Amino acid sequence: MPHNSPLITITALSLMAAHVCAGTAAADDRPWTNRALSPDTRADLVLNEMTTEEKLGLVVGTSQRPAGEAIGAAGYVAGVARLGIPMLREANAELGVAVPPLDDTVRPEDEATALPSGLATAATWNPAIAHANGAMIAEEARRKGFNVLLAGAVNLARDPRTGRNFEYAGEDPLLAGTMAGAAIRGIEEKHVVSTVKHFALNDQENNRTLLDARIDMPALRESDLLAFELAIEGGQPGAVMCSYNLLAGIYACQNPTLLNNILRQDWRFRGWVMSDWGAVHSTSEAARAGLDQESGADWDSRAWFGEPLAIAVAEGTIPATRLNAMVHRILRSMFASGVIDDPPAPGPLDADADAQVAQHAEEEGIVLLRNESDLLPLSSDLRRIAVIGGHADVGVLSGGGSSQVIPLGDPALRVRFKAPGDTIPYAMVFDPSSPLKAIQAKAPLAQVTFADGEDVDRAAIAAKEADVAIVFATSWEIEGHDAESLSLPRDQDKLIAAVAAANRRTIVVLETGNPVAMPWNSEVGAILAAWYPGQRGGEAIANVLFGTVNPSGRLPITFPASTAQLPRPELPGRFIPWNTTFAVDYREGGAIGYKWFEQQHATPLYPFGFGLSYTRFSYSDLRVSGGKAVTVSFTVTNSGERPGADVPQIYVGAPQADGGRARRLVGWSKIALAPGESQRVRITADPRLLAHFDETEHGWRIVAGDYPVELGASSSDLRLAATARLEERTLPP
Ligand code: BGC
Repeated sequence: MPHNSPLITITALSLMAAHVCAGTAAADDRPWTNRALSPDTRADLVLNEMTTEEKLGLVVGTSQRPAGEAIGAAGYVAGVARLGIPMLREANAELGVAVPPLDDTVRPEDEATALPSGLATAATWNPAIAHANGAMIAEEARRKGFNVLLAGAVNLARDPRTGRNFEYAGEDPLLAGTMAGAAIRGIEEKHVVSTVKHFALNDQENNRTLLDARIDMPALRESDLLAFELAIEGGQPGAVMCSYNLLAGIYACQNPTLLNNILRQDWRFRGWVMSDWGAVHSTSEAARAGLDQESGADWDSRAWFGEPLAIAVAEGTIPATRLNAMVHRILRSMFASGVIDDPPAPGPLDADADAQVAQHAEEEGIVLLRNESDLLPLSSDLRRIAVIGGHADVGVLSGGGSSQVIPLGDPALRVRFKAPGDTIPYAMVFDPSSPLKAIQAKAPLAQVTFADGEDVDRAAIAAKEADVAIVFATSWEIEGHDAESLSLPRDQDKLIAAVAAANRRTIVVLETGNPVAMPWNSEVGAILAAWYPGQRGGEAIANVLFGTVNPSGRLPITFPASTAQLPRPELPGRFIPWNTTFAVDYREGGAIGYKWFEQQHATPLYPFGFGLSYTRFSYSDLRVSGGKAVTVSFTVTNSGERPGADVPQIYVGAPQADGGRARRLVGWSKIALAPGESQRVRITADPRLLAHFDETEHGWRIVAGDYPVELGASSSDLRLAATARLEERTLPP
């Protein structure tokens, strides 16, 4: 609940002071404007000039729009205009510059280009796509006046029902960390600060603020933390956002193991740690543990880094040096990212170019899961096409919560509802890109009909009369809630089964935020996982259906056959006594997704890494060398008739001496090949992926031995094998 905190007073005072003094200081008086100096030196030069009050103003943010402020934002932090330090204006920006759909205090209806979901981008397995997404978002954000983007979400998909998986990058630390890192880099290169979030283990949404994650530390290092580590190395974000949950009984935003020891000491992270909104629960514990900035302090029970911090610093219980360190890190990132040297430049968006970015991401992210008798690609000579369900006549579904983008050109549709107990009504937002129209454009001679799918019999009749039936199935996810099951909601399984019974040439297009169960899997001709498809999703889907684009997406997350196969068939934390924390034992440890399935000898519905193409790829001549690291080379050939892109994947198991842990993805390459063309690929595995984290030695330990190396088209389709002999080695943490 927002309340009037001392922070707001400090903020207002420093804004007034800044206003009076702005512009009076000459550049000579501001040695920190010298770009030749390092960000650390520049930060210290500013810090030396700051009053305690100004410093306190920089370590606390609010979600309340300051008086006179034109731009609605998720968060604000007062700058020090007297010294040329701008206000931080923070926008959620995982999938585009976001705005809560029904909150009219924050930029009501401010539109931006809507990207497909994070899982769609992860499914491209192409870091260049993630990078282009980040650059596009940052460019739009700059034109809207933002200098901090709450992006870089990289929590691993420990459960396929987690309500925010759609924002994230899947279940594997290497894939997720690489893709998130590339997106962050794309943002930072545009001189906008990006976060990486939510650090760490906010891996479920139900009662996320009360969840106490229990996991063995080596397993955590090898899974969720490795994803963050890789994303930070690749993206160099200016800030880390700590998460809502507790870890081993301590809230993440006041957890010294996470913040001081791992992030700062082991990883040498130089930027600042900001809290998630409402994730702070103390002043001194948080300050000592390494939190630098309380975000959205109006969401906390009190502004912990407002008056209580001021008192603690005045009394010396929090040393002034600690406050200086907080401020230094914030300023340092502002200089390093370039938000001070190259502030946002308001202007119009380049809507067409940005929509291309969104379309391209979706085209590469769509995964072809099934294609019996080459039903796809469709011919443009079809006579009758029945399109059914999913509001495909008007648009494509997007996911809900703080990442919600109001798409350019207005939502095609908003389905509003209020769940019991909720204070704010929710709205499912459909992006204005009609699959029906895009399909009609691809098959101009065809009669394309639409049935909304509410009447199953009518849909079946439409399917029976058509050459092909295309069912659009949707499942909506929203931040703060996990899915109750893997099943498609609203009887859509019944609809699909009825349509498939009426016409074997049925294609299912899934617009979902997560894996779903498919009881009709073997009854339909083809299945596309289109995720949440984004601003030009309709066009992207039609391009894949008709073969203008050859699908090249691969699953970044396992599609289980049932919840019984999961580490926690019942999701914990749904029904707990009011306001009590509850422990979740992550018994799978680092064996998330495909690794868990391998350990359990369970067969998923569709495995991690899987995806079909309209052409065929073959692999040959696998060569492997060991020693200090594993280097692999092999040849990929497009042995089919169409150009296409493949994603050959390398998995490495453990030597017998290391006790049979599951295979790990250690590398991949996305390569486009013409028919008949071959390419040699070379991959060197990051040694951390071959190691296990050894707490006693405090480092990554590689056990000497023979490591099985496999080349495959998915985690379950391993085609060539070899062995690499590795030396014993310990790497720093
Ligand atoms: C979400 C963050 C988001 C923040 C600000 C929180 O509830 O967990 O991802 O950046 O709100 O809107």
